[in-house]
Formats: sequence, C-alpha cells, structure tokens
Amino acid sequence: MRRLYLYTTLIFWLLVSAVWAGSLWFPPAEEGVAVAAEKLISTAELAKHALPDNCWMAIRGKVYDVSAYLPEHPSRPDLVLPWCGKEATEAYNTKTKGRPHSAYADELLVKYRIGIFTVNKP
Ligand code: HEM
Repeated sequence: MRRLYLYTTLIFWLLVSAVWAGSLWFPPAEEGVAVAAEKLISTAELAKHALPDNCWMAIRGKVYDVSAYLPEHPSRPDLVLPWCGKEATEAYNTKTKGRPHSAYADELLVKYRIGIFTVNKP
C-alpha cells in the first residue's frame, strides 16, 4: 500500500514537471499583440487621393495621408498640393528648392504613414 502511494506521488510530480518543462520549451504565442501587415498601395491607388482634403503622398517607399497636415504646412499651398496623389520623394527631399526638410518634419511624417508604396501591384 505504501509502495503504491509512493509510485502515484512520483508519477504525479513527474507529470507536473513534464508540463512545466513543456511550457518552457513551447512558450505561448505572443498574446494580444496583433501585428497588422502594412497595406500595399499602388501607383493607381495613390493617384485616387490627389485632392487637398484627400491627399496621399509616396515618400521614400512609404505612403502618407497628409490631408490633416496640409492646412498647417508652412509653405504656399501651390508648392505642396501638386504632389498629392504622386511619388513625392524628390520634392520632399528638396522642398523643390534644393533644401531638405528638418528632422522635425521627418518625425511629423511618421504620424501620417498609412502603407507601403508598391509601383507594380495591380
Ligand atoms: C512633398 C511635397 C512637399 C514640398 C514640396 C514641401 C515644401 C516645403 C517648403 C517650400 C517649406 C517652406 C519652408 C522652407 O523653405 O524651408 C516647407 C516647410 C516644412 N514642411 Fe514641407 N513640403 C512638402 C511636404 C511636407 C510634408 C509631407 C511634411 C510633413 C508631414 C512637411 C513638413 C514641413 C515642415 C515641418 C516644414 C517647416 C520647416 C522644416 O521643418 O523643414 N512638408 N516644406
């Protein structure tokens, strides 16, 4: 009787250790972290957003919806608006005046990122 008790206790603790070791080996998948794939945006899709209140720009391979920022942009509107709906890396890099935007402008841009620019996607 005593032996049976010892064996069952031993088996119990072996099972407990196996479950514990197994959970270390296979950690649970990251919970609650939904990593949404970034939207791929084609030239055609980009071109549909070429208005001041619906203005997307492709800059350095990413697409930004800058509609909300445009009213605050410090330059004359006619310098920026023609780039809505277009690939605007060169314009952004030079302000069309041969001068780059500041690091502050680059930081602002991050807020408006909505996807990745893909020239060839149908
Ligand atoms: C791609 C088209 C764009 C063009 C042609 C353009 C051009 C200009 C121009 C001419 C100025 C006036 C001040 C200066 O000459 O230094 C300026 C300033 C500025 N722009 Fe743009 N811009 C563009 C897009 C953007 C975007 C998308 C952002 C941010 C979301 C931005 C943020 C700023 C900021 C913060 C300034 C103040 C000066 C600085 O920080 O560099 N611009 N931009």
